[in-house]
Amino acid sequence: MADASIDTLRSHFQARLAAAATERDVKAIDDEFLSRKSGSVTALMQTLKSLPAEERRAFGAAVNALKSEIEAALAERKAALEASRPPAGAVDVTLPGRERAAGRIHPLMRVRQDVEDIFSRMGYEILEGPEVEEDYFNFEALNMPPDHPARDMQDTLYLGAPIVGGTWGAHRGSVPESQVKAATLLRTHTSAMQIRYMKTFKPPVRILVPGRVYRRDNLDLSHTPMFQQFEGLVVAEGITMADLKGTLEALVHGLFGESARVRLRPSFFPYTEPSAEVDISCQKCGGSGCGICKHTGWLEILGSGMVHPAVLEAVGYDPDKVSGFAFGTGIERIAMLKYRVDDIRLFYENDLRFLEQFPL
Ligand code: DAH
Repeated sequence: MADASIDTLRSHFQARLAAAATERDVKAIDDEFLSRKSGSVTALMQTLKSLPAEERRAFGAAVNALKSEIEAALAERKAALEASRPPAGAVDVTLPGRERAAGRIHPLMRVRQDVEDIFSRMGYEILEGPEVEEDYFNFEALNMPPDHPARDMQDTLYLGAPIVGGTWGAHRGSVPESQVKAATLLRTHTSAMQIRYMKTFKPPVRILVPGRVYRRDNLDLSHTPMFQQFEGLVVAEGITMADLKGTLEALVHGLFGESARVRLRPSFFPYTEPSAEVDISCQKCGGSGCGICKHTGWLEILGSGMVHPAVLEAVGYDPDKVSGFAFGTGIERIAMLKYRVDDIRLFYENDLRFLEQFPL
């Protein structure tokens, strides 16, 4: 009877020891079996008193033997674990790695890169132009002479402008025309680069011009005084409006997926004739009509047209020999449609709670 309880305890101990993997486990087993107050070997020893005198001696010896056996086994395991401890300062390569806070591409930069990818695959040259521009490139050569009413379409930020009497524009008789032409300004659109490029290079032309532009606008849901555009220009022999439409379809499909539809609507720009505004099928409702598209099923995304003969003449091209198309739009506008952002200012506040919602 007594031997049976010793054997049970021994096998119990052996099982526990076999499962011990750390020094802490060994300490717990030590407490469980040998603790003076509550150890199970100690408890067994206490049953000695209740045994008949002739059994006590043998039983006591057997319990003591078990106790020594347990002490020796624990000491041995403890020493083994201590020996396998990594040296101080060692690196534990099994620890899980620490996550690094990775930056991500700003949504406007993402749209710009997507647009650049689409056009560089089509063989376009990608280039930027100066943000400080001359009136000539920004307006005049784009078929907007000083007295052209189309200049009222854009509120321009002039730099050291020869504004006499607080009134801008030679058409009002306050500024000599030569001074108007020499004025410097912050470009109001990337279209200015059409002129710079064509004045420098002969056709064929196939360029994409992304960059910052500036307007005298106050901040609100859809305006910032600085924003970004991209401009496309293709000039060669035999370019038609069909080329424009095909190109814009490639752009829209690249940006919004193959299911997006494109529509050209007659419009007016001084530097294109004919001119078209380009709509895409509403990304929210798919074209059936909703609050976003004001129940039309369409959203305006860019301005475009066939390069006006007067523009071709201004840069020294022969409008009887070459023709071309141009288009331009705001990068913020595309990003707002693509990512369903309803306040343009969010792009420039750099609030991480906003920025972290975009893919890495
Ligand atoms: N420059 C226009 C704007 O800032 C956009 C634009 C319209 C560009 C028609 C073009 C074009 O090249 O053909 O709103």
